[in-house]
Amino acid sequence: MGLKEKPIGIFDSGVGGLTVVRAVRKALKSEDIVYFGDTARVPYGTKSRDAIMKFAGEDIEFLLSQDVKVIIAACNTVSAIALEEVSVLYDLPIIGVLQPGARASCRITRNKRVGIIGTSATISSGAYTENIRKVDPCIKVFTGACPLFVPIVEEGWEDTELALLAARQYLSPLVANEIDTLVLGCTHYPLLKNTIKAAVGKNIGLIDSAEAVSKLLEETLKKENLLRDTENKGNSKFYLSDIPPNFIGLAERFLGEPIKHVERTY
Ligand code: DGL
Repeated sequence: MGLKEKPIGIFDSGVGGLTVVRAVRKALKSEDIVYFGDTARVPYGTKSRDAIMKFAGEDIEFLLSQDVKVIIAACNTVSAIALEEVSVLYDLPIIGVLQPGARASCRITRNKRVGIIGTSATISSGAYTENIRKVDPCIKVFTGACPLFVPIVEEGWEDTELALLAARQYLSPLVANEIDTLVLGCTHYPLLKNTIKAAVGKNIGLIDSAEAVSKLLEETLKKENLLRDTENKGNSKFYLSDIPPNFIGLAERFLGEPIKHVERTY
């Protein structure tokens, strides 16, 4: 198989990374995708740095065994904690969601006050702040961990009163700091977009990391001459380290379309 014909590998701690698969499928229709979700060990966002480093390495190794041409770490927690150190160990492009999200916020902010939300691990890593400051040291960054958002989305409660209350509680300090741009720094948060908009008001622009990374992926594939040149629609394969009973319904909400086939990796 020629290099261009090989699939794109995408991994996440669980099913949340399917928001990235959705964005990539929309942008690059003819590419094949292999997705790996570490559902046996999710969540990563509450784990130690050592555990996240180890899991990230193993997730990448699995995708390499599938002969992929490029890898996206769809998980913000992995992107924030592990990617810089782990990606240099491999000789194919490995793209995280953090850098494209951080860069997009620098382009979009007008008042140079940016908010970042994510898991506890992502926020305490300080990686978003560091990346934004590298691009524009004048930007003031305000961060907040939103640990209840992941279970709220997995429960299917993203458009409920409870979600709105949680969003107001988490986001009001950021609004009080007069941010004009908010980065949704977690795979699950794009599903909360409407609720987050209702909580922060329409004047704050939301950055969806899934969309930002799919643009960077397209640029990388073009630059490396790896874009698949066919009109045919690409296929997606889904692998999980465990298949929990409620998986299909949950996964289809993230992906936005039916999932035909899933394989367990052990
Ligand atoms: N995928 C994770 C992230 O984007 C959220 C779920 C988890 O904590 O593993 O940070």
